[in-house]
Amino acid sequence: MARASSSFVCQECGASQPKWTGRCEACGAWNTLLEEAAPAAGAAGEGGGRRGRRLHFVPLSGETPPLARLASGIGEFDRVAGGGLVPGSALLITGDPGIGKSTLLLQVAACLAASASCLYISGEEAIDQLRLRAERLGILAAPLRLAAATAVADIAASLERSPPDETPPDVVIVDSVQTLHVDGLDSAPGTVSQVRAAAQTLIRIAKRRGFVLLLVGHVTKEGLTAGPKVLEHMVDALLSFEGDRGHQFRILRAAKNRFGATDEIGVFEMTDTGLQQVANPSALFLADRGEHTTGSCVFAGIEGTRPLLVEIQALIATTQLGTPRRAVIGWDTGRLAMILAVLEARAGLTLAALDVFLNVAGGLKIGEPAADLAVAAALTSASLQRALPADMVVFGEVGLGGEVRAVARPEARLKEAAKLGFGRAVLPARKGGTQGTAMIVHELTHISELVAFVRNGARPGKTVRSLGHA
Ligand code: TYD
Ligand code: MG
Repeated sequence: MARASSSFVCQECGASQPKWTGRCEACGAWNTLLEEAAPAAGAAGEGGGRRGRRLHFVPLSGETPPLARLASGIGEFDRVAGGGLVPGSALLITGDPGIGKSTLLLQVAACLAASASCLYISGEEAIDQLRLRAERLGILAAPLRLAAATAVADIAASLERSPPDETPPDVVIVDSVQTLHVDGLDSAPGTVSQVRAAAQTLIRIAKRRGFVLLLVGHVTKEGLTAGPKVLEHMVDALLSFEGDRGHQFRILRAAKNRFGATDEIGVFEMTDTGLQQVANPSALFLADRGEHTTGSCVFAGIEGTRPLLVEIQALIATTQLGTPRRAVIGWDTGRLAMILAVLEARAGLTLAALDVFLNVAGGLKIGEPAADLAVAAALTSASLQRALPADMVVFGEVGLGGEVRAVARPEARLKEAAKLGFGRAVLPARKGGTQGTAMIVHELTHISELVAFVRNGARPGKTVRSLGHA
């Protein structure tokens, strides 16, 4: 008998090639290729050897009833999911191991179980462990049904049809996709072909039967377990659960959502009794802020649809090495390098030979270019040893010429800052000025004005406009 053919599949991006190489030719990752058996010819696709049927085309302008969504009642989760879970959709929740994915989904399932039929299938934990966790979360009484399984064949058989005495499921949670195995595939659980085949099978059943499928997927750095990248295109929504294990904040972020907005975030706090929703994230992120510290600046950001205030901290020190160090937590390293270069070239600060450390307090990751000006303010404050006023927020984008550019939704940012008791703001100049706040606003057009402003001890320059009406 001919040897079953195999190929080398990149565990990072899913590309396959016939020969092993140290580096994936598709995505360039190192040491991520693993030999996997090619699927049997008959299993290549649903089409197999069947003759195709003619498709039935319909006009675009048809009647479609509005999506009925299942809301869990956990507002932070529902909002990120686009207002609730859509029947027949598949969601992938990814995150580092230990970040709290199982905890979140168990809590969501318990809430959903009050109004929907929920199944929780765990491939990672035994039933006793799940019960212990549920006890800790105070949700033992929820009518949630559990099973511990890793064989996709068993899970599929249980989901394909329900016995007459059982309510068909509305929501099925599978934790995690990396523990599942599909019979007939040689590769180990967690490899690309296993993960892909398992997810495909489950998603197909979910679409056909109309239940919501919530898959958990671990993110891995080493690439020995297939990451969420290989599943991204199959699922309707990709939610990532982020946070720093040293901090209690957790952020649920929609990276892709066919049924809602992306970039929406939900903020949670990990406590002894599970995840709690954070109603006022800005207050939480600013809770430990020291006053009158040099290098500290409050950034008025927007995460998803929501304004969020966070503290940006910069520290500048004499370097002990030949090459100065640049360390960043929570922001982009390339962007920091750009801001440093702009401050040197356009505003005359000397930073090139110094160590620079930048930290977004609270473990949040900021992706918005609107943070440029706040980062520049923190760096300037650290460099000039001048503390910024404690009641001041900053936002704005900075260009390579040193120009300060307008960003989206300034009013929402100012409103959030005013709500939390901030009295002034540094922001890009706008035609017609900034309306509708009771704050003192300092409008800037160039980064050199920011440096002069910090150097003056944050005393108003000529660009100040005071808006007195509340
Ligand atoms: P878990 O949900 O198991 O993470 P994941 O499924 O993403 O791997 O969460 C594990 C961590 O959460 C663990 O370090 C303990 C902590 N935790 C709490 O702090 N409080 C709690 O109530 C629970 C259930 C977990
Ligand atoms: Mg888990």
